[in-house]
Amino acid sequence: MVVPVMPPVGSGWPSWLPGPDILFLGIPLGQCWLRCELVLHGVPAYTGQRRKVDIPKPGPDEVLIRVVATGLAPKDWKFTKNSGRDRALNAGDDIAGIVESVGSSVFEYKPGDRLPLFTAWVTHQAHMLTAIALYQALQLPLPTVPGSKDTSVLIYGGATAVGAYALQSAKLSGLGPIVTVAGSGIDYVKSLDVADHIIDYRQGNVTQTVLSALNSRNVHRALDAVSSKGSHQVIVDILTASGGENVKFSLTFVASAYSQKHAYITQKQADADGEFAFFFYRYLSYLLAQGRSKPHPHEVLPDGLDGIVSGVQRLYDGKVLAKKLVSRNSETPELKLRSQLERGKPTLP
Ligand SMILES: NC(=O)c1ccc[n+]([C@@H]2O[C@H](COP(=O)([O-])OP(=O)(O)OC[C@H]3O[C@@H](n4cnc5c(N)ncnc54)[C@H](OP(=O)(O)O)[C@@H]3O)[C@@H](O)[C@H]2O)c1
Repeated sequence: MVVPVMPPVGSGWPSWLPGPDILFLGIPLGQCWLRCELVLHGVPAYTGQRRKVDIPKPGPDEVLIRVVATGLAPKDWKFTKNSGRDRALNAGDDIAGIVESVGSSVFEYKPGDRLPLFTAWVTHQAHMLTAIALYQALQLPLPTVPGSKDTSVLIYGGATAVGAYALQSAKLSGLGPIVTVAGSGIDYVKSLDVADHIIDYRQGNVTQTVLSALNSRNVHRALDAVSSKGSHQVIVDILTASGGENVKFSLTFVASAYSQKHAYITQKQADADGEFAFFFYRYLSYLLAQGRSKPHPHEVLPDGLDGIVSGVQRLYDGKVLAKKLVSRNSETPELKLRSQLERGKPTLP
């Protein structure tokens, strides 16, 4: 097994790096390379088109990665939902691959390194998001400084990738009681064995059921791992009923792990998140390698690049429950055929 590692020391995640819906295929085919990315648009229906790209040259603090596998995330449909073909875009950044070349200041990676194991990468993206939310924004105690069992926390959406990592992190931090809300993913949430109370949102009246489960104990910190369908309002109701007078919101984007400011934080906070991520990415790798944090379950889509649009559609339709969709470039039919031709064993589709 390859122990996962994360983006290079001192570097922002390269802005050119392709992502899930999207492949930068640097597959050597004799002397030529096939290079493209898949861009998506959602109007009138989710559609993808390949676009030729030049292979980028990494800057001093960047690495060039040949993408092997990609993971899909809700932003792949969210960012493309209202775009027509003329505004098709590549929104993704969940990838795993092999380092092709490194910038002059990079000292942790070299060409040929595997970065990182696919499921681990998915883990890292969603996992880092939850780490920034729990430890930087909510200021909960780190696993290395365990909290007390008096620090209750609500994780709304325990079966989402983000929620499942938040639950595991909350447990590692020694928080409790840990309350979560899930539906058809309840069995998966139970299998993690970290939540003290699992509330089924399909039964309705989530606010009251959470408060009853807490049995007069208050909850003052919550992470919304759904962020739609009125989830934030349910959370506000619970925090308010728990004695919170001025419920404060803070929005988290994983980009701040690379010190990128966004509309909801200052540059100072983005820099602090970047420093936090510098060591926490490595700590996540350690937790994974030790089996103390479990990667989210995943399903490999058929046909590589060609299967991605149907995966995005399934995400949009809410039909992907308690798992990640992933895609492997090498399973794109024409690449499969080319590789068979190279090996002298063509099998026509
Ligand atoms: N993954 C990332 O790296 C990432 C990064 C940035 C932002 N985000 C954001 O974080 C949120 C979650 O993303 P994700 O990738 O973790 O999602 P996901 O794994 O695709 O979420 C799927 C799960 O959502 C749950 N769900 C749907 N409606 C729900 C509701 N009303 N209450 C509770 N659970 C509900 C379902 O749980 P049940 O099966 O139990 O119904 C389903 O299993 C999204 O808003 C996304 O944009 C994610």
